[in-house]
Amino acid sequence: MHEYLLMKRIAVFASGTGSNAKKIIDHFRDSDLARVALIVCNKPGAGVIGIAESESIPVLLMEKEKFFRGNAYADELKKQQIDFIVLAGFLWKIPEVLIRAFPNKIVNIHPALLPKYGGKGMYGLHVHKAVLDNKEKQSGITIHYVDELYDHGEIIFQAYCEVKENDTPETLAKRVQALEHRHYPALVEKLLRSV
Ligand code: GAR
Repeated sequence: MHEYLLMKRIAVFASGTGSNAKKIIDHFRDSDLARVALIVCNKPGAGVIGIAESESIPVLLMEKEKFFRGNAYADELKKQQIDFIVLAGFLWKIPEVLIRAFPNKIVNIHPALLPKYGGKGMYGLHVHKAVLDNKEKQSGITIHYVDELYDHGEIIFQAYCEVKENDTPETLAKRVQALEHRHYPALVEKLLRSV
C-alpha cells in the first residue's frame, strides 16, 4: 500500500488566530506518521482559515445548529477518514456524539494549569488576567483528553512557567504561548504513536 494511505489523518479544530494549528501543520509537514488533513472552524474570517488556505488544507466550517444536534459532523469526519482530533483554540463544547465517535482521540490545550482557571469563559486573556488577579507564582499549559465538560478531561501533560511581578495578561500570554508551541506538536506526535 502507498505510504500516504497509512498516514494518520489529523483534524485541527480552531476558531482563532491559529498559531498552534500552524505549529502542528509545520510539525507534520514531512512526517511519515501523520498529516493535518483538515481544519475545522466555527468562525468565518478567523485567522486559521487563511493559514489553511495558504497550506492548501481543506476547511470545514461548522454550523452551530448542526454541530450540537445529530451526528452529521461525526459522520463527515469519519467519511474524511480522520483518525485524531486536536483542539487548538476551539471554543465550543464538544458534543457527546463526537466524543463517542472518537474515544480518547480528541485532545485540547488550555493556557493555564488545570483544574484551575478552566471552564466556560476562560479563554485567551481572561485566563491570564484571572491568574494575575489571584497573584499566582506560576502558570503554564495543560494538554488533556476531551470530555463533555469544558477544560475537564483526563490531564495528559502540563508544563510550567514563572509569573513575574510586573506581568500583564499580554506578557504572561506570550510566555504561556511559547510553551504551547514548544510542547503541543510533539505531544500530539507521541499520542499518535500510541493509538
Ligand atoms: C491557545 O492559547 C489555547 O490554549 C487557547 O486558545 C488559544 C488559541 O491560540 N484555548 C483555550 O483557551 C481553551 N479553553 P491560537 O489560535 O493562536 O492557537
